[in-house]
Amino acid sequence: DETVERDRHPGTGGETQQRPEKGAERLTTAQGIPVSDNQNTLKAGPRGPSLLEDFHFREKIFHFDHERIPERVVHARGYGAHGYFETTDAIPDLTAAHLFQEKGRRVPVFARFSTVAGNMGSPDLARDVRGFAVKFYTEDGNWDLVGNNIPVFFIQDAMKFPDLIHAAKQEPDRGFPQAQTAHDNFWDFISLMPEAMHMVMWTMSDRAIPRSLRTMEGFGVHTFRFVNADGKGHFVKFHWKPKAGLQSVLWDEAVKINGADPDFHRRDIWNAIEMGDFPEWELGVQVFDDDFADSFEFDILDATKLIPEEQVPVRIIGRMVLDRRVDNFFAETEQVAFCTQNIVPGIDFTNDPLLQGRNFSYLDTQTKRLGGPNFTHIPINAPRCPMHHFQQDGHMAMHNPKGRANYEPNGWAQGGPRADPKAGFRSFPEEVEGEKRKVRSETFADHYSQARQFYISQTAVEQDHMADALVFELSKVVVPEIRERMVAHLPHIDADLARKVADGLGLDGVPKAHEPARQPITDLPAS
Ligand code: HEM
Repeated sequence: DETVERDRHPGTGGETQQRPEKGAERLTTAQGIPVSDNQNTLKAGPRGPSLLEDFHFREKIFHFDHERIPERVVHARGYGAHGYFETTDAIPDLTAAHLFQEKGRRVPVFARFSTVAGNMGSPDLARDVRGFAVKFYTEDGNWDLVGNNIPVFFIQDAMKFPDLIHAAKQEPDRGFPQAQTAHDNFWDFISLMPEAMHMVMWTMSDRAIPRSLRTMEGFGVHTFRFVNADGKGHFVKFHWKPKAGLQSVLWDEAVKINGADPDFHRRDIWNAIEMGDFPEWELGVQVFDDDFADSFEFDILDATKLIPEEQVPVRIIGRMVLDRRVDNFFAETEQVAFCTQNIVPGIDFTNDPLLQGRNFSYLDTQTKRLGGPNFTHIPINAPRCPMHHFQQDGHMAMHNPKGRANYEPNGWAQGGPRADPKAGFRSFPEEVEGEKRKVRSETFADHYSQARQFYISQTAVEQDHMADALVFELSKVVVPEIRERMVAHLPHIDADLARKVADGLGLDGVPKAHEPARQPITDLPAS
């Protein structure tokens, strides 16, 4: 390389030093002090001990020692990109959200796609749900749509989330498997949770091994609420539809790809953006009112159920284009903090007990993951609209209030920001009544009907893939009782599927359903 001249420096032990290109920036410490030698520590004599006063070495090693932050407790492995969202069909009649008021209105977005169970270094093509999280930097603040590529979820109530994730991730004694559902703890838990059966059908389908992050659908999963300028509310479910179509790989392909290129998905989206083949999705909404909600055969607050598109068609209202890769993976993709609680005027929550729990969880975990309450000061998380409040101090505070006023009300001439009763966010005034209780609503009780609907909606080839996936996954389960308990759920979904899986596992017929709370397994055989 002609730009780098190599030179021997007497007195530095004979190592080579690089001479930078002419005009290159001068290397400094983080304090800005110019560095003369980046190859050697300061020593007492040529072969003597290193000296503590070497502030350059101290700073360099100290900073390196602190490079790691905790990985996300779930969705640790992910990949993000920048882009924009454009409204293609304005819906001011449904929502006051600024971004949906006019056709053609554009806002910047940052999207992160992820696997759920695997650790940060796990392979991209694990059989798993994919996270599909989008941060919209709107004029009224950040709106995060933190969804998945599957429209339903494993559990109905956030109380069960830690159990679900403990069961799905590596087993606590052995520390494996890293990125697979194929293990005893996962299927032990799932087989005791009939509410998971619908989602299990989706995760055993080809949807759980997408060809590319660009060929996945996305779903907000929960029922949210739109509120228009007159305060009228509608229920809404969000859908992302990939312009490149929905594509998956076969399981045998997934296994090979994971071995040959565990970064397959991130490389694919990086290359696509580099080549100008920008990934694109349409945003659709299913909008419905109280009358539909009351007449629907399932509870619209139950995240294990979807609303069939035949009953409420998806209306396309916008598109998202990802056209810029990150400059720095850590600064942007790792430090981005999505949170279901980040909503803007015109959008609101419902009482879905999974959503309500998520609202607490994200802020809590990010405060730890990103080192304190000021992670909204990190550029990827900062709103792109004006922002004024009286929050101050804490670790890494970058934007403390200016001047004397850091409380409100105050009587100072330059008293700082005031709440806006007209345009500020207002919660939808939903009526609430009833006793405090821990019991789950009866309306959440049917766990098999939609699992069956999903299975029979698949083509014969896709159904075979689902049966094969169940056989593969359950064949890795060591304890026969867990395997049988799981297969015993399947006749409630489809008799043919149950038979195929039982045959594939070499069982003597389809096992009868066990009572969920049968005797606990106390003695797991070694695996
Ligand atoms: C992270 C989706 C349920 C807790 C994520 C991410 C997504 C996601 C996409 C990755 C965000 C990113 O890329 O940074 C979902 C969906 C759920 C669901 C669609 C159900 C419909 C839950 C529940 C809880 C939870 C019930 C807890 C009660 C978390 C936590 C993180 C996370 C703690 C890590 C956040 C971080 O460290 O930044 N989730 N999740 N999730 N989720 Fe969920």
